[in-house]
Amino acid sequence: MTTTVATRRITGLKPTGELHLGNLLGAIQPMVRDQYTSDSIVFLADLHALTVAHEPRQLRENTLRQATVLLAAGLDADRTLFYVQSQVPDHAELHYLLECTTAYGEAHRMIQFREKAGDRSDVRLSLLTYPVMQASDILLHDAAEVPVGDDQRQHVELTRDIANRFNHRYGETFVVPRVVTPPVAARVMDLTNPTAKMGKTTSSASGAIGLLDPPALVTRKINRAVTDSDGIIEYDPALRPGVSNLLEILAACVGGSPSSVAADFRGYGQLKSGTVEAVLGLLRPLQARYETLARDPGYVRGVLAEGAERARERTAETVFRAKRSIGVLT
Ligand code: TRP
Repeated sequence: MTTTVATRRITGLKPTGELHLGNLLGAIQPMVRDQYTSDSIVFLADLHALTVAHEPRQLRENTLRQATVLLAAGLDADRTLFYVQSQVPDHAELHYLLECTTAYGEAHRMIQFREKAGDRSDVRLSLLTYPVMQASDILLHDAAEVPVGDDQRQHVELTRDIANRFNHRYGETFVVPRVVTPPVAARVMDLTNPTAKMGKTTSSASGAIGLLDPPALVTRKINRAVTDSDGIIEYDPALRPGVSNLLEILAACVGGSPSSVAADFRGYGQLKSGTVEAVLGLLRPLQARYETLARDPGYVRGVLAEGAERARERTAETVFRAKRSIGVLT
């Protein structure tokens, strides 16, 4: 008898800002689909949220809310190993061992660090070392694949360098992961500034559709979305970014391609009401499940606690392996 072992995939989500439609279409839906074909791990990277100024109560609330949204969106904790990073201390323990395998210059070269730190020296030290924590997140699980967007590619490359170096110096210890680029379901842009991506922390309140926005607010945001001025409905992101973004959103919600759905509409008013209907059709069931789950935070906490416990069984074994390789007494 032959059995195929599903490929192990890991996704980390930093629980800052509000999850929006771009996150649902670009990351959450693919993650939910993946859980039927891959050996999936999804965790909330709350330790990473501590690398910049934060408010403790807000972080705690965000973490629980995002966990609830992911479950509402169809993440199934029986299929996906789902937990909160800080509840598995092995992330921090392996992080230290990997810091001892990483050069200061390597961390300092990371583009995200340079962008966020600029030339300020009062940034948190963890902002510099956070890609090493990310390497720890991934290597702890012997993950083979890491689906990330372009902004995270360099961190996964660093993870590969660290894993290869560790294996070379101390003997085979870690699986060397690779980046997978998720098929682009939709490039969802900011509604008020359609040449920039819809962002959790970069978009203005009216530029992003929050997954928990009430229907009236979703309607208002879409109705106020920037369109173009010539009345033509055609999918051409370079020439008509506003209209193309609505077509892109609509097509992703109902299935189909942005250029083919364009033919269904005469005028911007009609396009906007069609988009409202499509987005609400997607959000309604998610919001209904969210309401039910949010009434029982104890249940969600229980799911997370169970996930953390299952994760620990695996990660403890990896940390033991790494400690034995690196030479501390085990
Ligand atoms: N750094 C990622 C982000 O900001 C989140 C993240 C943390 C992550 N650890 C990870 C992603 C491990 C993939 C694998 O989006």
